[in-house]
Amino acid sequence: MVAQFLERVKAQAKGDKKRIVLPEAYEERTIKAANTILEEGFSDLILIGNPEEIRAQAEKYDLKNIGQATVIDPKNNPEKEKYVELMLQLRASKGLTREQAERLIEDPLYLGALMVKAGDADGEVAGANNATGDVLRPAFQYVKTVPGVSVVSGAMLMFIPDTQFGENGFMVFADVAVHPNPTAPELAQIAVSTGKTTRAIAGFEPRIAMLSFSTKGSAKHEMVDKVVEATRLAHEMDPSLQLDGEMQSDAALIPGIGLKKAPGSKIAGKANVLVFPSLDVGNISYKMVQRMAHAEAIGPILQGMAAPINDLSRGCSVSDIVALVAITCCQAQMH
Ligand code: ACO
Repeated sequence: MVAQFLERVKAQAKGDKKRIVLPEAYEERTIKAANTILEEGFSDLILIGNPEEIRAQAEKYDLKNIGQATVIDPKNNPEKEKYVELMLQLRASKGLTREQAERLIEDPLYLGALMVKAGDADGEVAGANNATGDVLRPAFQYVKTVPGVSVVSGAMLMFIPDTQFGENGFMVFADVAVHPNPTAPELAQIAVSTGKTTRAIAGFEPRIAMLSFSTKGSAKHEMVDKVVEATRLAHEMDPSLQLDGEMQSDAALIPGIGLKKAPGSKIAGKANVLVFPSLDVGNISYKMVQRMAHAEAIGPILQGMAAPINDLSRGCSVSDIVALVAITCCQAQMH
């Protein structure tokens, strides 16, 4: 199922090719992934790194397609001044000085984000060699969110071998990656963003369960109240979304239990999207499902950003990078 999904996403990417910037081009998995992407021809690539090092890496691993990429040297960049000006324009009011901007723009992660902001790249994929916070900070500071959204979150595509769940085992989990402790309005935004990601990337109509340790008032607690309020707000924000809560995960996933605990719910027992009440729960849950149920996890796909920037896990494989670049291309087509 993953293979079929990836074929569809790559074919879509190929239909309207985008330029994706990879700021960690010095890194072995990234440069190998870049070679595969160029060979498959579904994206144009901009590699940030020392051109000599990139050439040496390409020779070392016998990567024949790297010559097709545009290479930008962050330490010797003819466009440096343009990006410094843009940085000052956007953040001088936050105390950014020219000296700081000149230093930061030599950092590949800042340069990548600024290229996206300036429209010189359509999206970015990074994180094979950098922690999530280091990838996200420049993106949050310079690319920012789409109008109407204040919170970026991360959706994980989950391919579960047991096909009774979701769409033949295909589900979407969020937020698994970004915002530690959302308020009710923020959780509502996460649900709405996840609905959009599901339609656009997963390719099915979302049935969203807003998860809690309570189902339809079975427990009373302020943490439950937050999910109830988020469910109400998400309905208001996008009345077209099929979404229900608060509910426990067994009520969301198992038809018999859904019927018993949430009779009349259109989502209970049939959820294909799970929205978690906090990052703790989302991140722990996806990793447990991945390991204990042998699910494949693709993502996180960052949602709510003004242009697509995606963060890899530092444990990613070459094929994870190829997949996330293809997804980023599809997100860029929608922007
Ligand atoms: N959405 C949009 N903007 C945000 C968000 C968000 N979720 N969070 C912070 N920002 C913005 C702030 O508004 C601020 O903007 P400003 O400077 O223009 O005012 C800027 O980002 C910096 O905000 P801080 O509060 O200083 O954020 P900080 O840099 O401390 O942290 C971060 C942000 C890095 C994303 C933090 O929330 C974090 O570390 N999250 C957890 C990431 C993580 O480790 N995930 C688990 C691993 S991923 C995985 O396993 C798949």
